[in-house]
Amino acid sequence: MLDLRAQYDSIAPEIRAAIDEVLAAQQFVLGPRCEALEQEVAEVCGTRCGVGVASGTEALEIVLHACGVGAGDEVIVPAFTFIATGSAVTALGARPVFADIESVTFNLDPALLETHITPRTRAIVVVHLFGLAADMDAILAIASKHGIPVIEDNAQSIGAAYGGRKTGSLGRAGCLSFYPSKNLGAYGDAGMIVTNDERLAARLRALRNHGQTGRYVSTERGWNSRLDELQAAILRVKLRHLADWTAARQSHARRYDALLADLPGITLPRVPPGREHVYYLYTLSISGRAANRGARRAGNDPGAATRSDIVQMRLADRGIASVVYYPVPLHLQPLYASLGGKPGDLRISERAAREVLSIPLYPELTIPQIERVAQTLRDVLGD
Ligand SMILES: Cc1ncc(COP(=O)(O)O)c(C=O)c1O
Repeated sequence: MLDLRAQYDSIAPEIRAAIDEVLAAQQFVLGPRCEALEQEVAEVCGTRCGVGVASGTEALEIVLHACGVGAGDEVIVPAFTFIATGSAVTALGARPVFADIESVTFNLDPALLETHITPRTRAIVVVHLFGLAADMDAILAIASKHGIPVIEDNAQSIGAAYGGRKTGSLGRAGCLSFYPSKNLGAYGDAGMIVTNDERLAARLRALRNHGQTGRYVSTERGWNSRLDELQAAILRVKLRHLADWTAARQSHARRYDALLADLPGITLPRVPPGREHVYYLYTLSISGRAANRGARRAGNDPGAATRSDIVQMRLADRGIASVVYYPVPLHLQPLYASLGGKPGDLRISERAAREVLSIPLYPELTIPQIERVAQTLRDVLGD
């Protein structure tokens, strides 16, 4: 799915020089590289401030805490996302209220949002999934009507845009993950919160460092959640390449679009007008009919697996990687069984979990590789 080695090979001398500088300086936590990276990432996201933290999950947790989310509160979260979006809420003792998504964008459906708002709702977390912005105008209008802050889970969408504005700059704050596989990936865990609110940023800086507002003076309970200098140095090198890498992702996506456009039974990623997709993933939806046709040819029992599983297995047989992100929506996760979610509650999220399949897309992918993936998919679906 991803060839991180190919990326490393293309930037190895720059990375090694940056690491050497940190080793020469011997300052490893909360140093000048983290500060510089905060400025640079904030600029990319179109915000005034950036606050480096240890992971995307802790970015969410810390900013939700700063928005006043605590035990007994409710936070609205899309059901179709990575588990971290929900676990950041439960880590604070609050209750995630799972909402359904739009089938076209896989993002929170504004039309259903209001039905989940109660007097206990303290925040809405919007996820810009797979590299595409959610419908922020509609979501922000509902949130502001009810006076509820919107936090953007921008873990997968650095550089994406909505109405000419960057994701992460649209709500109260945006949370980034620099997990190694992300569009901007560290060589370990790291994350950042971006915001236009300088007072909030100052509080977040204290919260990530034991609630300290002065030297060994803590004014509130905080976290140990800092972005270290080695990761910051690596990320600064990679950030210089991000625009080119994003352009390569977009060009590869257009190529897949052209190669797969006439393939019946699959839906390709669609980008609503006014949005810029950064293709963290290239995710198809595979209809039951198309998957079953492929399964019958393979002699499989079409009822034995989900639609996307069947295609995934057939692709794997031919040496092509693919992954179902995400096979279990959050309201049906065993972790959240006590919250009472049942199959049928959130139909679009459940259908997405059965039908989605992501195929390889990363900047270093070559045109022959893209053509081979597309041709194999055509073969598997019995074109
Ligand atoms: C949508 C989403 N939210 C949150 C996270 C959590 O980020 P991290 O792995 O850096 O904690 C991730 C990535 O892993 C993610 O994809």
